[in-house]
Amino acid sequence: MKKGLFITFEGADGCGKTTQMKLLADYLKSQGFEVVLTREPGGKGLGEKVREILLNYEGEVSDRCESFLFLADRAQNIDIIVNPAVEAGKIVLCDRHIDSTVAYQGYGRGLDLDRIKMLNSLATNGKKPDLTIVFDIDVETSMKRVGSEKDRMESAGIEFHNKVRNGYLEIAKEEPERIKVVDACKTIEEVFEDVKKLADNYLFTKNIH
Ligand code: TYD
Repeated sequence: MKKGLFITFEGADGCGKTTQMKLLADYLKSQGFEVVLTREPGGKGLGEKVREILLNYEGEVSDRCESFLFLADRAQNIDIIVNPAVEAGKIVLCDRHIDSTVAYQGYGRGLDLDRIKMLNSLATNGKKPDLTIVFDIDVETSMKRVGSEKDRMESAGIEFHNKVRNGYLEIAKEEPERIKVVDACKTIEEVFEDVKKLADNYLFTKNIH
C-alpha cells in the first residue's frame, strides 16, 4: 500500500508559506504524487464558517474562546479532510496546524503552553504532522508584506507578533526531527529551493515514491 504523508506549513502572517505550499503541491504532482491542500482555520465546508468568525467577528472574543474555535476547526479538518486522504496514500499539505495554536494562543496570547498542547492532542486524536516547515521572518518585513488591510489576528500588534515568532523558534528547538525552519526573507525562488530540499530529503529517507 502507498504511504500517505501529512506536511504542515507554519509561520507569521505574511511569511509567504501559502505561496510555498502551492509551489510544493505543483512540484509533488509533477513527481506523480496525489496531493490534497487544506488550511486552518477553514478547510472545506464547516471550517469555512469557523474561519469567518475567527477572522472577521467584530465583537469581543475571549482568548480561551478563540483557542477553542481554532481547535474545533482543527478536529473537523483532521477527521474529514486530512486523515481520509493520508489513509488513501495521498500527500496532504496543510496551511497552519497545531503549532499555530502554540505560537499564537500560547506564546502570543500567553495561555498555558502545556494545556494548549494537551488540547491540540485532543483535537487531533494525538496525530502529529510527519513534517512541519516553519517560515521564519522578522516582524517588520512580514507586516510590510501583509499591508494595511489587516484581519483581526494581523491587527494584534508588533509585540504580539514578536512573541509569536519567538514561539515558533522555541517549538522548532523542542522537536527538531519534525520541525524545520527556513529563512523566509529570501526570494520566493530561493525559499522554494530550501522547501524542495526538505521535502525531497524526507521522501528519500522514508523511502516514499
Ligand atoms: P490566515 O488568513 O489564514 O493567515 P495566513 O495566510 O497568514 O495563514 O489567518 C489565520 C490567522 O489565524 C493567522 O493570523 C494565524 C491565526 N491562527 C491562530 O491564532 N491560531 C491557530 O491555531 C491558527 C490555525 C491560526
